[in-house]
Amino acid sequence: MNPMLSPLRYPGGKSKFAPLLLPWFQQHRQPVLFETFAGGASVSLLAVANGWCERAVLVERDPAVAAFWRCVLSPRGRFRLINNIRTLSDAVGRAQEGEGQGDDLSAATWCIARNRTSFGGKLGKAGTCGYARWTPARTIERIERIGLIASRLCIVEGDGIDALKALPPTAAAFIDPPYPGVGENLYRHALVDHSEILQSLPGRAAVGTWNDIPEIATAARAIGLAVKPFVLVSNRFNAPSREVLIGENLGWFSGNEIAKSRKKITPESFQLSLFGEAPRSERMAA
Ligand SMILES: C[S@@+](CC[C@H](N)C(=O)[O-])C[C@H]1O[C@@H](n2cnc3c(N)ncnc32)[C@H](O)[C@@H]1O
Repeated sequence: MNPMLSPLRYPGGKSKFAPLLLPWFQQHRQPVLFETFAGGASVSLLAVANGWCERAVLVERDPAVAAFWRCVLSPRGRFRLINNIRTLSDAVGRAQEGEGQGDDLSAATWCIARNRTSFGGKLGKAGTCGYARWTPARTIERIERIGLIASRLCIVEGDGIDALKALPPTAAAFIDPPYPGVGENLYRHALVDHSEILQSLPGRAAVGTWNDIPEIATAARAIGLAVKPFVLVSNRFNAPSREVLIGENLGWFSGNEIAKSRKKITPESFQLSLFGEAPRSERMAA
């Protein structure tokens, strides 16, 4: 497995969870994946890079994040964005300016600068963490690697719920919405109707992740969806995040059992454990 890490640090990002979805891709075999709350698009990047699906459509409502992906996915945009990242003399200062308006290149440059110099990768008002996560060479390398698969990715700036409702029959969807009660502090667009999202799952090749709260699990079970818990350890500073996977027919996902046997199934960059800490070698900042 080739871990295709996103250049964006994303609060709640799924780069460490994405490898667990391989059996789901093997089961439904849809050629196209929709990642309807794209953010850093971890699942799409891994799935397309490893041939789990032919193409992926990223749907994102935040205009600066969408502009970032438009730049990364076009040869000219990528070239100019990489040049900006390479020559940005004051990333923290640049990130504090404005809100990511302007043309795509300006918005994309703001997005990556803000994302990699603010606490937790937040694009809203978060305060700066300085240059600790401003790693231009690594960011550029990731963008260049995405360039190799860019012809199989596209970005739609718009609403993820609308995209789910219009999901073509040949497509699967991975859904990672801003979590209720949490997302408001993390994303610039966070208010979504979770019951509407859940209602769109039955009858579709679609799974999603949520924070493990009774309201979501109860609403999902009420419409016949399966709910399986898992625990994600993001790094040594954060408490383990208790989440649930929701969808139809989740027999392929062993949740906590997988967590217990992570050595067998995880690539180096992936940390999922029941409650324990990941090994030190795995606790590297993404
Ligand atoms: C939890 S993050 C996704 C993280 C992603 N799974 C990853 O691995 O990086 C949720 C994303 O949904 C976006 N978003 C919020 N409301 C949306 C909407 N109505 N439609 C599409 N995207 C939305 C947010 O801007 C944010 O980027």
